[in-house]
Amino acid sequence: MAVTQRPAGSVVIVGAGTQGRRLAFMWSRRGGTVCLVDLQKKQLEEGLSYVKQLRSAALDSGQEYGEVKVAQPDALETILQDAWLVVECVPENRALKQKVITQLDSWSPACTIIASNSSSYGISEIIEGLELKHSNRILSAHCYWPPETSAIEIMGHQHTDPNVISLLMEQSRAHGFSPFHVKKDSIGYIYNRIWAAIKRETLLALSEGVCSPREIDAIFKDVLKTPKGPCEQMDVVGLDVVLDIENHYADSRTGIPTEPRIYLQRMIESGRLGVKNGSGFYNYRSDAVETGNELSTANL
Ligand SMILES: NC(=O)c1ccc[n+]([C@@H]2O[C@H](COP(=O)([O-])OP(=O)(O)OC[C@H]3O[C@@H](n4cnc5c(N)ncnc54)[C@H](O)[C@@H]3O)[C@@H](O)[C@H]2O)c1
Repeated sequence: MAVTQRPAGSVVIVGAGTQGRRLAFMWSRRGGTVCLVDLQKKQLEEGLSYVKQLRSAALDSGQEYGEVKVAQPDALETILQDAWLVVECVPENRALKQKVITQLDSWSPACTIIASNSSSYGISEIIEGLELKHSNRILSAHCYWPPETSAIEIMGHQHTDPNVISLLMEQSRAHGFSPFHVKKDSIGYIYNRIWAAIKRETLLALSEGVCSPREIDAIFKDVLKTPKGPCEQMDVVGLDVVLDIENHYADSRTGIPTEPRIYLQRMIESGRLGVKNGSGFYNYRSDAVETGNELSTANL
């Protein structure tokens, strides 16, 4: 197989949290230098240890990884001068993302690709109304969790240079991702749209009293041979987060039914947030007679 040549220069990752540190591992896999930037020193230290941990667990641990440097945002403008790619991984707040993207566009050379890892805001939504110098090198590059999930969804906006998309697709593949090109502006990219529809229909079926959460999970796992059903998976994500995501779809698109959101809202109001507080579709409390028991949804 032909080995794609890595572009000269470094990859800069802004935000060293859950995703940023994982991306530092991925983008340093072919020997390239990565610079991880965060406001918090603690995040940078923990980020470096996480990269070490992923390297020692990786199947390709014998290979020559690139150096991972760390820096705080006051050094960002200088660091960017050498970057072929910069990925923003700051928290999911549109105003913050807009500020960071504007800075990256103003400080980096015109040829540096600028990517956003945002899950809910597509790149068109982020750059709307911004005054940018070189918007044709800006796109979304959305990764997944846990880190062994190799999918990355690459989505431009109407003025993104197709060559920039091709280069990032090629380089993502060479660094161990499985890239997918999202060819039209799409809230939820590809996978999250499908997953949103599954969650929505699950909640609709429950609100109609068609079946119970355990029955939905059982039939889903039986037919699709997946380890978790939709209710178990929603409990892991957090029911408040599921509602926020569904609200975002409802705000951005027509035809989204209200019943799933009403159902979720009632669950949240009755103190059920999922695994994180011990109670969702199922009971996860350590003092429960049996954890994993389905909780009643009869009075919702
Ligand atoms: N966590 C996931 O599973 C996941 C999956 C896919 C996509 N994403 C997306 O990735 C992005 C980051 O999510 P995360 O879970 O890694 O967040 P996180 O909260 O774990 O990390 C964000 C980091 O950004 C830092 N930060 C905040 N403002 C900054 C600034 N101005 N400059 C530099 N650093 C700054 C914070 O200190 C923090 O360390 C979000 O857009 C999210 O939607 C997350």
